[in-house]
Amino acid sequence: MKGLSKEILQQLKERCLKEIESSSSIDDLENIKIKYFGRKGEIKLLFEELKKMPSEEKKEVGAILNEINKEVRLLLENKIEKLKENSVEYQNYSILEKSLPGVSLPLGNIHPLQKIYNEIIEIFLYLGFSVEEGPEIEFEDYNFTMLNIPYDHPARDMQDTLYLDLPVSDKGKILLRTHTSPVQIRVMLSKKPPIKSIMPGRVYRHENLDASHLFNFHQVEGLAVDKGIRISDLKGILTFFARLMFGKDVLIRFRPSYFPFTEPSLEMDIQCLVCKGKGCSVCKNTGFVEILGCGMVHPQVLYNVGLGYEDYTGFAFGLGVERVAMLKYRIDDIRLFYTNDLRFLRQF
Ligand code: PHE
Repeated sequence: MKGLSKEILQQLKERCLKEIESSSSIDDLENIKIKYFGRKGEIKLLFEELKKMPSEEKKEVGAILNEINKEVRLLLENKIEKLKENSVEYQNYSILEKSLPGVSLPLGNIHPLQKIYNEIIEIFLYLGFSVEEGPEIEFEDYNFTMLNIPYDHPARDMQDTLYLDLPVSDKGKILLRTHTSPVQIRVMLSKKPPIKSIMPGRVYRHENLDASHLFNFHQVEGLAVDKGIRISDLKGILTFFARLMFGKDVLIRFRPSYFPFTEPSLEMDIQCLVCKGKGCSVCKNTGFVEILGCGMVHPQVLYNVGLGYEDYTGFAFGLGVERVAMLKYRIDDIRLFYTNDLRFLRQF
């Protein structure tokens, strides 16, 4: 056996120890480990050779080889362990307080407008209304004509309505809806009474910005059509809504108003919660803030959608979401909802 004799093994051992002693990095030591103990390592191969030896020699040489194998390995592992303990990574790791909770990443919160929006929808769902949606890009016929808004009405004016630069359709010009009322038309065209729906969404107006006006804001439209629906149903439901939204002691009032698509028409005011009715910029010193327009669906509108028969009546309302949020959270400038100032948003 040429590779295996006491002398050769002795030389091998010395060589190993020297190499270990003279290396000072973990990488070097790992390489030595591979060189001697890896799959094709020198010591590993000697064990293979040992198997082929005649059994008398095998015992003696095998014992030496085992001894070397153990000793060298131990020395190697110990040195690697020591170097690891001295390394920066290890020291950083060992001073880690592992029982401390991890760093928590800040979670955003729900935007105040979205909160109010959700709350409004929840109240009407509770009252048995379904939720419908319509497009923000709308036909002139749905936004105005079928709602009984005359051709010469000022709301149709370019000063108030944002028209899109598109070819005129068979349902008139294309525009950004100025209110959610066109969704009433869409719902009545596609469903038979009984209808009891709310229609939340974004609306657009050609408006100058100030503390109480934006060129886009949100409304929640409401519509109920059936036989025997009366104005007391409308007032009852809206009063219930106001009490749930603002508390049972909230002061509300209905004022007569005018909309071409309802008759009679009303507006609902809430006592200004910012100044408690004393007068401030939000209520323009009147003590009350208008939050919605409403009324009984105009018979002409029912005719326009093919429901002008069988004694159908209905009520409709259009609620201003930003107005509700301003009152509920006592915010005196509507622009705050859209400026993404974290100092503002974090308060909700
Ligand atoms: N569409 C009206 C507005 O935007 C509100 C309204 C809706 C009034 C439904 C009556 C009935 O001002």
